[in-house]
Amino acid sequence: MEGTSHSDSLLSHNGTIITRIQGNRVRPNSTNTLPTFYQNLEDALDIRRASHSFYSVVQNNWQNSDAVDFCSGDILSLGKSPDRRAEFLKEFDRHPDFSIGSSGVRLMDGNHTYLEQTEQEIADFHGAQTGLIVGSAYEANIAVWTSIPRPGDVILYDSLVHASTHEGIKQSLAMSHVEFPHSDIESFRSTLLEILDSQSLVRQGKRSVIVAVESIYSMDGDVCPLEELLEVAREVLPDGNIQFIVDEAHSVGVIGPMGSGLVCKLGLQKDIAVVVHSFGKALGATGAIILGNQTVKSTIINFSRSVMYTTSPSFPFVAAIKSGYTLLKSGCMSEAQDHIQRLCVLFFETLENHPLWPLARERELLSVPLARGWEDRPFQTHIITVSTHQNYTYWLFFHLLSQSLCVFPVEHPVVPRTSNFWYMRFSCG
Ligand SMILES: Cc1ncc(COP(=O)(O)O)c(C=O)c1O
Repeated sequence: MEGTSHSDSLLSHNGTIITRIQGNRVRPNSTNTLPTFYQNLEDALDIRRASHSFYSVVQNNWQNSDAVDFCSGDILSLGKSPDRRAEFLKEFDRHPDFSIGSSGVRLMDGNHTYLEQTEQEIADFHGAQTGLIVGSAYEANIAVWTSIPRPGDVILYDSLVHASTHEGIKQSLAMSHVEFPHSDIESFRSTLLEILDSQSLVRQGKRSVIVAVESIYSMDGDVCPLEELLEVAREVLPDGNIQFIVDEAHSVGVIGPMGSGLVCKLGLQKDIAVVVHSFGKALGATGAIILGNQTVKSTIINFSRSVMYTTSPSFPFVAAIKSGYTLLKSGCMSEAQDHIQRLCVLFFETLENHPLWPLARERELLSVPLARGWEDRPFQTHIITVSTHQNYTYWLFFHLLSQSLCVFPVEHPVVPRTSNFWYMRFSCG
């Protein structure tokens, strides 16, 4: 694929555009001869196809072509940097007797010194007491939300938290789950007051309110007003029976001292009960860590079925994570982190200086929520969403692809039906 023209590969029979168009074609009557099992699956898929929201695994040939990739989660290009590869391989040299598998679940054979040491190093880096490495941040959120809220607790969650948090909350033991409008501090306060009013155990300080937020929201790219939410929480529940769980999937590596995330940037390490960092994005690896104190770690190990009944992280898996942290801790990623800031500023400046932008905005043809007030923000986030009228989403998406600009259209069911947009991530690759 080296040197392939992007527009050529897009129009190939298995290129992005053709795959998407073919995927969304409804197949009337074509499934009648299938066994019931497959027919029922195809019927469910046809509902997706009919609403043009059928997803296919497309060939992401833009990674090897001349296209500009706005989809990559490898924000710092740590996943493919030669320094990172060298650091990763050094881990194997340092531990020549490594075992490829982990040989069991964490509570039995699966625990190993290298894993424990790496967890502690990462916890220290983020200013936490302990850490628990798991297979992904999706798994981490399931583990946290199915074990930490105890019967009688109340979960209060931001309306835009990730699907994995929703899934974990659904399976949790909490007495009730209450949503508050996205990052709306006044609604947070009034919802908390309502909880206090209706939940006598919380009022009496016998049960807790557990708040779910994200440092940088995965779909809207905006930053959580964490300090303000904490202030309201302390005001309404001064006895401390309210705690926060912060998902830092999109901030680790990118913001905070040496990329340690939002909680560290704000110096709130002692105020947040649980933090989840994904290694699948800026760290350029896979997996995640759950940070908290020893009580939190023991609770997860004892009550989270997704941790208890799964094979523990193996040496190669942990080595990939550790090598990413070695580079982060060395401070050598600061140029990449600054570069992302410059790219975001360049995007906003170019947008605002474009002669058609005022008209496009006025007619609501294009909307870029983060363009409002970007100069006043202390730092930019690398996730920027651009939305248009629903009918135009795909036309503009294909147009951008044909111009070698790879963005990702986000539609129902990932977001509500009314809020289609494209998702752009600025990375320094
Ligand atoms: C906020 C948030 N949390 C968790 C996840 C899941 O991360 P992982 O890919 O490590 O499972 C994502 C994935 O994009 C995310 O955006």
